[in-house]
Amino acid sequence: MAVQKIKENIYSVGAIDWDRRLFDQLIPLPHGTSYNSYLIEGSEKTVLIDAVYLKKWDDLRSNLETLKVDRIDYIVSNHSEPDHSGTIPYLLEIYPEAQILTNSKCKDLLISQLKIDESKITVVDNDTEISTGDKTLKFMMAPWVHWPDTMFTYVPEDKIIFTTDFMGSHLATSDLFVKNEWIVYEAAKRYYAEIMMPFRAHVKKYTRQLKEMDIEIIATSHGPIYDKPEFIINAYTDWSSDEQKGEVIIPYVSMYESTAKMVTYLADRLIEKGIKTTLFNLPETDLGELATYMVDATTVVMGASMVLAGPHPSAIYAASIINALRPKARFLTTVGSFGWADKLGEKLSEQIKDLMPSLKVESLTPVLVKGSPTEEAYRKLDELADEIFNKHRQVMEKRVALN
Ligand code: FEO
Repeated sequence: MAVQKIKENIYSVGAIDWDRRLFDQLIPLPHGTSYNSYLIEGSEKTVLIDAVYLKKWDDLRSNLETLKVDRIDYIVSNHSEPDHSGTIPYLLEIYPEAQILTNSKCKDLLISQLKIDESKITVVDNDTEISTGDKTLKFMMAPWVHWPDTMFTYVPEDKIIFTTDFMGSHLATSDLFVKNEWIVYEAAKRYYAEIMMPFRAHVKKYTRQLKEMDIEIIATSHGPIYDKPEFIINAYTDWSSDEQKGEVIIPYVSMYESTAKMVTYLADRLIEKGIKTTLFNLPETDLGELATYMVDATTVVMGASMVLAGPHPSAIYAASIINALRPKARFLTTVGSFGWADKLGEKLSEQIKDLMPSLKVESLTPVLVKGSPTEEAYRKLDELADEIFNKHRQVMEKRVALN
């Protein structure tokens, strides 16, 4: 990423990773990502806000050379995950005078991960103010979006806040600021689903706090930055709210088409009732897309065939992802086909539910058949569609009543 000017004496100096397609060996990155780093040239002190991923060190070093940075006084580490901290030791070699500013938890993690000398770190908290001459650094502790160490850095003179991962997006783009809101909305929602959704209570709290602050720019550590903060604040307010949207997701895996026929039939009945329903054929599904749809799902219908005495491994994997991401869904059920003994099939629904203990859901009536679906199975699927419709109506009516 080339150097780009954000405001007077504030620059973007990070790196774009156009080629990266997997994060944490888990999260698909269809549009790459960026590791944003920011340089603040105060009238007396120079500050770097976060660093970049180890593999992108050359980009950061080159950008600092372009700006002829011969001294860095402070390196602010808002979050110690290595995609933002991995190159701090390299920076300290070139700028040995630099002092790292971070919170106590982040300090602990920087030392354990990067073996940074403790004397190089100054701990800050909500009351700390650091002057750079004409610009001030203020700090806002914001743990658990998404690590225990996360914090934000605010420069009141420029009304800019650096929020590390919070409100970011995995999007490789040369746009410094958001230009195409539709593209960024989709990428930021996917990012919220994958990274922030398990911490929804914290997300709500920090989103409210940002809304009340005097902010012109939100500069995240992934993706383009926001010069219209209300765009992402409104989106985060919506995604993290307790409000139910009444959507259904059906992640499924089918070995011999029986489960596929059942979930397709159920989806058609739900769509006829006006319920937004989305099917995900798990062996071919982008799990990031499934995560995105979890944000607005009120009901999860797991479509699972059996392998030996348990759910198909694809269903187990998806269930473990759903459990980890903790969507606000209210209802859960299982639809599927099994091949051998009735007793094994009867256990399928409980096995699926047991894989998702972190979900606060009510179980709806499962529909499980031996072999291919019968007329009786289709009748039960009709009843399940009615049950889902009625349950959704109850939670939606409750919402209207509360409003
Ligand atoms: Fe982008 Fe949590 O690191």
